[in-house]
Amino acid sequence: MLLFILIGAFSVAGAGSEELLVEAGSLAVLPCTIKSPTKGSPSVQWVKINGRDRNTVWRRERSGMEFQGVEVAPRARCPHSDFGKGVFNLHIERVRAEDGGEYTCTTTDRRKEVQRHVLRVIQVSVSPAAPLEGSSVNVTCSVTPRPAEATVSWKLNGSPLSLQQTRSTANMEERQIMSMSPRETGQWTCTVRLGKKEGEATQYLSMQGISSPLAEVTQLYRAVGSPVVLPCVFSEGLTPQNAGWQRNLNGAGPFRPLPPTLQPSGPQRDLSVRMERVEAGDGGTYRCFGEVAGRKLQRQLLLVTAQVRSSSPVKLNAPVSLTCELSNGTGVTGYEWLQITYDANGTRTETPKCQTKTLRIPKMTEQHTGEWVCRYRGEQGILGNVTYSFQVMSHLEAERPSSGKAGMVTGVGFLIVVLLLIVLQMYKNYRRRKMILQYPALETIVHSASNAREGRERERMREKAQGSQPQA
Ligand SMILES: *[C@@H]1O[C@H](CO)[C@@H](O)[C@H](O)[C@H]1NC(C)=O
Ligand SMILES: *[C@@H]1O[C@H](CO)[C@@H](O)[C@H](O)[C@H]1NC(C)=O
Ligand SMILES: *[C@@H]1O[C@H](CO)[C@@H](O)[C@H](O)[C@H]1NC(C)=O
Ligand SMILES: *[C@@H]1O[C@H](CO)[C@@H](O)[C@H](O)[C@H]1NC(C)=O
Repeated sequence: MLLFILIGAFSVAGAGSEELLVEAGSLAVLPCTIKSPTKGSPSVQWVKINGRDRNTVWRRERSGMEFQGVEVAPRARCPHSDFGKGVFNLHIERVRAEDGGEYTCTTTDRRKEVQRHVLRVIQVSVSPAAPLEGSSVNVTCSVTPRPAEATVSWKLNGSPLSLQQTRSTANMEERQIMSMSPRETGQWTCTVRLGKKEGEATQYLSMQGISSPLAEVTQLYRAVGSPVVLPCVFSEGLTPQNAGWQRNLNGAGPFRPLPPTLQPSGPQRDLSVRMERVEAGDGGTYRCFGEVAGRKLQRQLLLVTAQVRSSSPVKLNAPVSLTCELSNGTGVTGYEWLQITYDANGTRTETPKCQTKTLRIPKMTEQHTGEWVCRYRGEQGILGNVTYSFQVMSHLEAERPSSGKAGMVTGVGFLIVVLLLIVLQMYKNYRRRKMILQYPALETIVHSASNAREGRERERMREKAQGSQPQA
């Protein structure tokens, strides 16, 4: 806000007055210079003219004595540092609309000189300060005092606005926004032109409503299998009524409520929904809504899912093509395939391979194993990426001339054999358990019998050793 706008350099008195266009809240510097100062001490007087009243703002006598006026003080002062060069500029800090008006600087050195300035303060204000989404708001640009010949133009976030919806009154230019929307939030700048002079002032216009996402339509790109949060947060202090979500999956008919597994879990004003794993079928339009002060507010989120598909099973020495598939490719302007490799130290390298949607590998070799990334772009830059990993080479089959049918027969046969073996094993286990149940103490008896036999064996060995000792 403390944008310092000072238009107009030094000019000599007499030849009319100089215009200064300054933003409210910033520092205004009103120039006053003695062209060829003598060694002596001049007298200087700054006066603000209010109609017939003349109020002294700041005064310095030849003796060096200084006096401060009561009206603008203590925000007005003349910095001492430049006095030696004959510069007696008046600095007004945090300038206000009521500071606007005509000022004169009268210096007496060799002779008396009068320099005139008109300070015009530009201010942008919004009413009400934080309007509710959908309600009416007035943005006003005031110039104090406003000359008839000044022209006013508007910019919103740097883009010029047409003069429609603008009303002029005595000292201000007002724009009425009938229905506040996210498009109207941001920096409102009012530019005032007066002859060759130009000044501007800016004010941020915020909004109460759905604060995240701010845009009415947001696109989200996610790789299949990754998590996603669908954001929908109302401004602090708001309690939305009849709030909820609906979605319209790609190609499906009307909007339907979200399934119970996808429900907001945050506080009442946070309707964000988290999906742990995006599936290919989740792409589509999601709509979050709620009522505040009788107005229905809503946001749309377009979820686009991305996945990589290979044209056929991946086999060694055979051609492979991978396609980057998006559930809605409308916003995509380009694709890029990158190969990801890691050196011995684990340093990752991305090597761009082609700029197409489909990656074609004429002959699959070990050099192609590992990670591949498909990156897609839109008008605004990179939108997202999706990773594809070829399996470890030992899992990859070399291409064999066997026909698909023969392979399937072998596979089914193998499965049957495995199933039979499992059934046989289960039957054996069942029989064993039945035996044990019939003779519950059998296992214990067998066990203690063998323990007793072992004990006797050890006893005999000890006796044998003791018997042979005296002979040695
Ligand atoms: C905006 O200005 C118009 C006309 O001056 C007035 O009728 C309206 O009530 C104002 N709206 C707000 C929100 O202040
Ligand atoms: C695809 O995305 C565009 C915007 O990029 C949108 O207008 C369109 O409705 C989407 N199509 C479907 C089927 O959702
Ligand atoms: C791995 O790291 C070592 C030590 O930091 C370095 O000398 C070597 O050059 C690195 N090798 C590669 C392939 O980057
Ligand atoms: C893929 O996207 C993720 C998340 O946006 C990012 O961190 C990563 O750097 C991207 N990878 C490539 C190769 O662009």
